[in-house]
Amino acid sequence: MHAHHPSRRPATDLEPQLGRALPVVLPALLLCDFGHLAHEVQRLETGGAAGLHLDIMDGRFVPQLTYGRVVVEAVRRATRLLLEVHLMVEDPDRVIGEYAGAGADILTVHVEALRDPGATLQRIADHGVRGHLAVSPGTPVERLAPWLEACDGVLVMSVEPGLGGQAFEPLALDKLRWLAARRSSPQQLRLGVDGGVSLATIGPAAAAGAELIVAGSAVVQAADYGAAILDLERRAHAALSGASR
Ligand code: DX5
Ligand code: ZN
Repeated sequence: MHAHHPSRRPATDLEPQLGRALPVVLPALLLCDFGHLAHEVQRLETGGAAGLHLDIMDGRFVPQLTYGRVVVEAVRRATRLLLEVHLMVEDPDRVIGEYAGAGADILTVHVEALRDPGATLQRIADHGVRGHLAVSPGTPVERLAPWLEACDGVLVMSVEPGLGGQAFEPLALDKLRWLAARRSSPQQLRLGVDGGVSLATIGPAAAAGAELIVAGSAVVQAADYGAAILDLERRAHAALSGASR
């Protein structure tokens, strides 16, 4: 199928920007100490994070409320790391300009929240930002089929969006495999997974195709962020090479 969006495609590949081979762990700030935000960002950067995942919840698309543009701008001032902004909001179209301007490198929008995903992805691309589609656990992955060429990546939710610290839902693995089998190349559609990632679940997620692997509690509830990130990424790469450690 031909994409109807000849003007999009700002996306260059991610690996040069990340400075390391995929898969990588993107720590989620959700459970960090927001009283010392710049310090937390610094700890994650020093700990070797390839990028950061920022959860925007509006109290409507999900019951919880987190933070918005001002905090994204503060994180942007504190680091040059890649920032994925995960918009769990009711009307993403309304805020794309805001978050692009705040310094997002990836804007991840929920297919469940969009009336016209193609138009939203085009709007994101017009801002020079990568557009990724997120899919909640209850949404069939097939619903993404018409947009797989129009987006730069897909974020498969392995928990119900809203809270950190929930258990990984294995159905996400089937969705990742389905997506991995349908992309023309990994560069064309980068796959992510979000929710419940741990040393136990990151291997299967990576083996199923996840490359941008969000980890909240598994990193920021560890004493040593750097060691947690390194252990998780080692486990992910080991799963790809078929090793079992
Ligand atoms: C859930 C958020 C996730 C969450 C991940 O709605 O989208 O990014 O912070 O946290 P863990 O890794 O603890 O499940
Ligand atoms: Zn998230």
